[in-house]
Amino acid sequence: MISGYDHFVQLAESLQWDETTLDLSADREAWPKLGETERDQVLGLLAGFVIAETAVAGNLGNYQVAAAGRDEKSMEEAFRSQARDEARHARFFDLVTAEVAGIPGATAAQRRDHLRTFVADDLVDLFEGRLPATAERLVEDHGGLTDAVGLYHMVIEGVVLLAGQHAMLEALEGLSHKLPGVHKGMELVLRDERWHIGFGSRVIQNADIGADKANELLEWGESATKSWGNLITVEAIEIAMRQHRRRLKATGIKFWSDA
Ligand SMILES: [Fe+2]
Ligand SMILES: [Fe+2]
Repeated sequence: MISGYDHFVQLAESLQWDETTLDLSADREAWPKLGETERDQVLGLLAGFVIAETAVAGNLGNYQVAAAGRDEKSMEEAFRSQARDEARHARFFDLVTAEVAGIPGATAAQRRDHLRTFVADDLVDLFEGRLPATAERLVEDHGGLTDAVGLYHMVIEGVVLLAGQHAMLEALEGLSHKLPGVHKGMELVLRDERWHIGFGSRVIQNADIGADKANELLEWGESATKSWGNLITVEAIEIAMRQHRRRLKATGIKFWSDA
């Protein structure tokens, strides 16, 4: 019988993919033919994903540590499965920036230094400041896991990254020269992200958070999406926020505004 979070672990197992088998040859040929505005937007979004996925992959270990003390063992396993996905996402986006966009650097860390100049400081702060600080606190305070999942799964994955991923798919579809390998990889990343967000929603649901916390998550979501600056549209933010609100409601939360 499947119980707790086992379902997510099994789902993750069935969805594994390998970024090195994606064919990026057509993408490499198309890249130099893109217009400057097209390249700037795609590169800005890619830079955000490299920074974000590297940061999330590196911080999930502390979530596992906090979950290890729980009765429900499958939660720790689900965080482990998720960390494997995030590491693959980080490798995929790094591969694209190196091999398609030609970002210089001998290592992923060197390329990342270069990519930070393509996004707003707020976005870098969210992933390289606020997220690690939250994850670090988990080592001392395992009870902070619900809040930390609220920031990671609900706000960062459910709003900030989802808005960026949808903006990227839209940008890719409108390009004058197509990037089919990047498009395929984006779809696979989104497929993984769906279970990550589903898993986080389940953790929040089981924690039975109150209206204050839920409203806080709504506000965090709204302010955090602004970190993309003009790389994503107001519409993309609105769509992500609508989904965020619906997701929070589905966890059984009653908002003050509903009373
Ligand atoms: Fe990811
Ligand atoms: Fe994720």
